[in-house]
Amino acid sequence: MRLDPFAGAYLTDPAQVWRRLLDEPEGVRHDPDLGLWLITRHADVRRALGDAEAFGNALTLAPIYDVCPEAMEFIARIDAPPTTAAADPPVHPRTRRALRVTFANTAERVERRYGAIVQRRVDELVSRLVDRADGRADLVGEFTTELPLLVLLDILGVPEEDVGRVRAWGDGQIALLWGQPDPAEQVRLARDLWEFWRYCERLVGARLGGGRHGDDYVSQLLAYRDGDDEVLTVAEVSSIVFNLLVAGHETTAGLLAHALDQALSGPGRWRELGEDPRRIPAFLTETLRFAPAIDGWLRVTRRPVTLDGVTIPAGERCLLLIGAANRDPAVFARPEQFDPHRSDRDGHLSFGHGPHFCIGAALARLEAEMALTRLCRAVPGLRLAPGHRRSYKVNIAFRAHRSLPVVLDTTVPSGAPAAPVAG
Ligand code: HEM
Repeated sequence: MRLDPFAGAYLTDPAQVWRRLLDEPEGVRHDPDLGLWLITRHADVRRALGDAEAFGNALTLAPIYDVCPEAMEFIARIDAPPTTAAADPPVHPRTRRALRVTFANTAERVERRYGAIVQRRVDELVSRLVDRADGRADLVGEFTTELPLLVLLDILGVPEEDVGRVRAWGDGQIALLWGQPDPAEQVRLARDLWEFWRYCERLVGARLGGGRHGDDYVSQLLAYRDGDDEVLTVAEVSSIVFNLLVAGHETTAGLLAHALDQALSGPGRWRELGEDPRRIPAFLTETLRFAPAIDGWLRVTRRPVTLDGVTIPAGERCLLLIGAANRDPAVFARPEQFDPHRSDRDGHLSFGHGPHFCIGAALARLEAEMALTRLCRAVPGLRLAPGHRRSYKVNIAFRAHRSLPVVLDTTVPSGAPAAPVAG
């Protein structure tokens, strides 16, 4: 079957498409229309994510289509050196080490370092929702895309007044690289991306010029560099900030929206989570498997590679369909069923696998846990607005809800016990 990631069922019910792809005999095939090799099975996607010698990241953050020449002019001006998600060895291990040392990435360190920031932002946003006089909101616009961005700006030490610009730049980058913008839109988005890069350079430059290091993340990265280009160049510091400002918020926004969507669309789920917030971590893991925020990711072959009996030549771009892999019946029993109690839920590939495994996984989980815990308690009667139909933005990599309209009912639904106050 043909995959059309920019239209039809893929924009409302991608699982339908993944199921049909998984039903086909071949798990690796070339799609001439997209100019990509499609990889669907769990074992193959896992191998491609983890085998940095055969599958490179050099083109992971490059547009998936031929950008028009006017847009290309702006893209060519972005002289951000590759770091982490866009880098292969030897640059990748060196830049990843910088992140591992400076960015809290275990549950315990994240809680200690960033827990207070996350809690403050969760409380602020939930209070704002609860105070809404009309009792209605779009959780995408007013919560899921707000929280991770505000948290990230706090961590990085980016002024809050820039939140609107950074959000627009992040959205624009995702649309430019993995969407289907027309040429005029490509030019606008490419110019914005160049602006975004220059903003990151200025942000880092200001910390450098200040002469003293604060406790924000940018300053910590500069302290780690300690003036040594062999450790990190100043341009690499700017490039890491450039990447984090997108990788750290658009993804977590997706997890939050998917988790809320799942929690509000299954009977009794919201109530159950409110009754016992200890259920939330497993609920989130199953959300990650069932509805990944990034459900297609890219690699380029660094040499000819044989996968599932098919040889992919060197230099070919591959789309790893993480969403399909997460529903591969070879790994997951009853894959189409959303079941937070399943024993195989940890096998999902939503944070990647191997050397590029997501550095922000623990932070994303903490944000989602705190957000759901607080929301369940503050709005026990939360429900999707009647008539809402799920739809996603046009994109081959990021699965982002267009909206999540809800009714903010703060009363406990009749027949349900009140949620506990603690947690
Ligand atoms: C639910 C939320 C998130 C999802 C689904 C997600 C997903 C992913 C995936 C699939 C990768 C692997 C990329 C690859 O193999 O090429 C990755 C890498 C990465 N993620 Fe996340 N991410 C999330 C949250 C975050 C957060 C909160 C941050 C930082 C604040 C972050 C920073 C990164 C970085 C820097 C990398 C590159 C690591 C490397 O290449 O070594 N992510 N993420």
